[in-house]
Amino acid sequence: MTVTIVGAQLGDEGKGGVVDIFGDAADVVVRYQGGDNAGHTVVVGGEEYKLSLVPSGVIRGKTGVLGNGCVVNPETLFEEIDALRERGLDPDVRVARRAHVILPYHRVLDGIEEEAKADDDQEIGTTGRGIGPTYEDKVGRRGVRVGDLLDPDVLRDRLEYAVPQKRTLYEDVYGGDAGDEFDVDAIYERCREYGERISEENMAVNAGEYLADRVDAGEELMLEGAQGTSLDIDHGDYPFVTSSNPTAGYAATGTGLGPTVIGQGEVVGIVKAYLSRVGSGPMPTELDGDLAEYIRDEGGEYGTVTGRPRRVGWLDVPMLRHAARANGFTGLAINHLDVLAGLDELKVGHAYELDGEELLATPASTERWSECEPVFRSFDGWEEFDPQAVADGGYDALPAAAREYVEYLEDELDTPTYVLGVGPGREETVVRQDPFE
Ligand code: GDP
Ligand code: IMO
Ligand code: MG
Repeated sequence: MTVTIVGAQLGDEGKGGVVDIFGDAADVVVRYQGGDNAGHTVVVGGEEYKLSLVPSGVIRGKTGVLGNGCVVNPETLFEEIDALRERGLDPDVRVARRAHVILPYHRVLDGIEEEAKADDDQEIGTTGRGIGPTYEDKVGRRGVRVGDLLDPDVLRDRLEYAVPQKRTLYEDVYGGDAGDEFDVDAIYERCREYGERISEENMAVNAGEYLADRVDAGEELMLEGAQGTSLDIDHGDYPFVTSSNPTAGYAATGTGLGPTVIGQGEVVGIVKAYLSRVGSGPMPTELDGDLAEYIRDEGGEYGTVTGRPRRVGWLDVPMLRHAARANGFTGLAINHLDVLAGLDELKVGHAYELDGEELLATPASTERWSECEPVFRSFDGWEEFDPQAVADGGYDALPAAAREYVEYLEDELDTPTYVLGVGPGREETVVRQDPFE
């Protein structure tokens, strides 16, 4: 069976940790979209691993697959694999031949477009990893795929078509001074080296076939979404989104497994007990001042990839209703309950008010969303607790007010919680149901 892990909010909900918790039962862990814009954290016995591209399941020694829906920067991939090897792990990572490759000019173009937008305060605050420009080229049918790295003639042809266009764009539209990032020969040489290493390490797979074979053999698959539903290119708050589909439907398209395979499995929505955002865009429940600073510090809310301080806010329930519908969640993970401990009172944005009407889910227009006023509900705060004692004692060991908060969410989203996060570590969790069982 499959278990698909999806961010329910704006990324950084603790997906990596949940992949790790349930990863014991999985044989293969697959990323189906995004690239090294992700930053997934796994904490085991005080050791912290931060992964941008390699699926989090490799920490448990599972096979990690980057599906065809991903965009892969080979440099990051090899750096991560090498860093894990230095830490004594032996990651088994496969890459889809159909996945697209992030090339040096994609990063440059990502940066320069953000700079151009910044002149009118329209920048998205991307991670600068070249994600958007690479997906643009994929859809524009001028991309380079992982399979092309293994075939020098095809690689050369693809680069000779694409690179001069990019150089012209950079120089003539943006007035840049193009260097090796826009040079066919230089890129070709680098790509050939990447291709050789991919071949030597036997990493390239036809993902759909490879994964279907493993399902047929009775193995368990975990699909690791990156980013979150409100960053989805279709279902998020466009244009302040990433350029892929984190939502569960893409777990099929981005791996080559059929939607029926994914649909017969579980789809677990990962929720941070408050809200954080690391780029531009509306955030009706955003907090500022001392309270924001307190939550940011308690939650360590600084970007995993870029180190930027994250914006924080109260939980946005309309956003979660939208996510529950768009993904068809069968279960929830609610993380960071420990971060909110010690506050006298908590609020959640239960609904929005827009033009005198109450809305229960996010509107389709980002401009309208930014006009929404949250309708807050208050909850009693809960006292500080010992995460280990709660993890050992189970759900009933959580403070009563925290359970009330969790049960409110289960009711609103009509979805049971499978796991509650009370700290960053693998052991600091209350597992109520294992989706693989
Ligand atoms: P991801 O991108 O969804 O995998 O999440 P990130 O790794 O970017 O950010 C989540 C951060 O919160 C990481 O530093 C995690 O170790 C940490 N974390 C995850 N769950 C919990 C939790 O329940 N409590 C606390 N305090 N930290 C958590
Ligand atoms: P994980 O998987 C939080 C945000 C960026 C920016 C927007 C577009 O760790 O949850 P991009 O570089 O993708 O073109 O940036 O999306 N963003 C994330 N925010 N967590 C992430 O990943 C993110 N990946 C991208 O900050 O607002
Ligand atoms: Mg992250």
